[in-house]
Amino acid sequence: MTNTTTKHSEMLLEAFKETVTDCDGLEYHKNWKLKDLYNKFPQDNPASVRTVVFTLVKNHVLEQVGRGTYTLVSKTTSTKTPANPTQEVKTEKVFEKKVHVGKKVPTKNDDMKGYSGEYIPRSMYGTTDVKLLNALYQHKDFVLIIGETGSGKTMLAKHLAFMNKVPYFRQNITGATTPEDFVGQFIPNSDPANPAKYVWCDGQLTRFMRTGGVFVVDEINMATGDILSLFHSIADAERKLVLTQKDGEVIIAHKDFYLIATMNPDYEGTKPLNLAFKDRFRIITLDHSDSVEKKLNIDAKLLDVAEKLRTSEEIQTPVSTRDLVKYRDDNKNYGNQVAKAFFKNNFDSTEQTVVQEVMDLVLDNKTSTKTSEVLEDN
Ligand SMILES: Nc1ncnc2c1ncn2[C@@H]1O[C@H](COP(=O)(O)OP(=O)(O)OP(=O)(O)O)[C@@H](O)[C@H]1O
Ligand SMILES: [Mg+2]
Repeated sequence: MTNTTTKHSEMLLEAFKETVTDCDGLEYHKNWKLKDLYNKFPQDNPASVRTVVFTLVKNHVLEQVGRGTYTLVSKTTSTKTPANPTQEVKTEKVFEKKVHVGKKVPTKNDDMKGYSGEYIPRSMYGTTDVKLLNALYQHKDFVLIIGETGSGKTMLAKHLAFMNKVPYFRQNITGATTPEDFVGQFIPNSDPANPAKYVWCDGQLTRFMRTGGVFVVDEINMATGDILSLFHSIADAERKLVLTQKDGEVIIAHKDFYLIATMNPDYEGTKPLNLAFKDRFRIITLDHSDSVEKKLNIDAKLLDVAEKLRTSEEIQTPVSTRDLVKYRDDNKNYGNQVAKAFFKNNFDSTEQTVVQEVMDLVLDNKTSTKTSEVLEDN
C-alpha cells in the first residue's frame, strides 16, 4: 500500500466508525455502503475510494457482505519476530459482525419418520449404489448425486442414514435460500434469566457439523455463490465451517458428518454447477433402473408403457420411477381410470395424445394409426 492509500484507509475506517449505532445494548452497525463513502469523500474520485475499499477487503480489515456493502471484521495482529518468537498473536475484535435476526430452526427432525429401509439397490460400477455410497460414507468422501427427478436420489441418501443409524436432514435450495438458513442466526431471546436481547441459534447444518449425521442439500445447482462457498469450505480437507455470522467460531466436522448434494442434470436454462464445487465431490449419476422397477410391484404392462415412452422421440418429459410408483398406488387407491389420467397429466400437453395412445394400446389393447407410427419409430 502506498502512503496515500494508507491515509485513505484510515480516513475510510473513521468514516465507517461514525456509522456505528447502539441497538438496545446489542453491538450493531449499519452496513457500510460504498456510495455513502463516495459522498463522504467528494474530493476523491469514486475509483480511488473503491480501490482503498478493495485493499481493505483484501487485507481482511473489511468484509464484503453484499454488492457494495461492507462490514468491519476482527483484525489479527502478530508481534512475533524471529528475535522474539514467544510474542503472542493478538486478535482485536473491532466490531460485532452484522446481526441477522431470524426465526428459530426447529430442533426436531422428522425426516426419517416412516422410513424402514425399503430402498432397492441397483447395480453400479461393478458394485451396487448402496454399497458404493456406504463405502464413500466410511471414508467421508462427500458425494454429488446427479439424476432426473424421481430417480431415487433422496431415498438413497435416506437409506444411507438408515443403515448407519445416524441422523438425517434434507434441505432444499430455492432462489430465496440464504447461508443463514444453513448455519444459523441470532433470534430474539425468550429466556428471562438471560439479559441478552438476541441469542445465537445454530442452523441444521451447524448442528450436523457438531454432532454428525447425513446432511443432504437438494438442488445444489440453485445455490448462490455465497452458499456454494460455504460448502466449498466444508468439503475441503479441513472439513471446516466458520460461523462468521456469529463470532467467527470454527467448527471442524464431527467424524460422522457426511454431506450429500443432489441435483437434476443440467437442463437447458439452469445454471451449470461450478467446477470448483464438482471437484470437491465424488459424482454418482442415477438413472431409472429396470431391475429396481421390476421389484417395485409395478404392473408389467405399465413398465412396457414406460419403456415405449422413454425411447419415443416424441416424448421429452422423463418418465420417472416415482411416476410408476404413483400409478401403482393411484390404481389401488382411486381406480384405473384415475391412475391413467394422473399418469397422463405428468406430461406436457403436446405429448399427452401420444401418451394416451400408447396407454390405450399397451394397457387396453386399443390401436390407432398414430400409435402404430409412434411404435414403428421405436
Ligand atoms: N431404488 C429404489 N427403491 C425403491 N423405491 C425407489 C427407488 N428409486 C426410486 N424409488 C421410488 O421413487 C420415488 C422417488 O424417489 P426420490 O424421491 O428419491 O427421487 P429423487 O431423485 O430425489 O427426485 P427429485 O429430483 O424429484 O427430488 C421414491 O419415493 C420411491 O417410491
Ligand atoms: Mg429428491
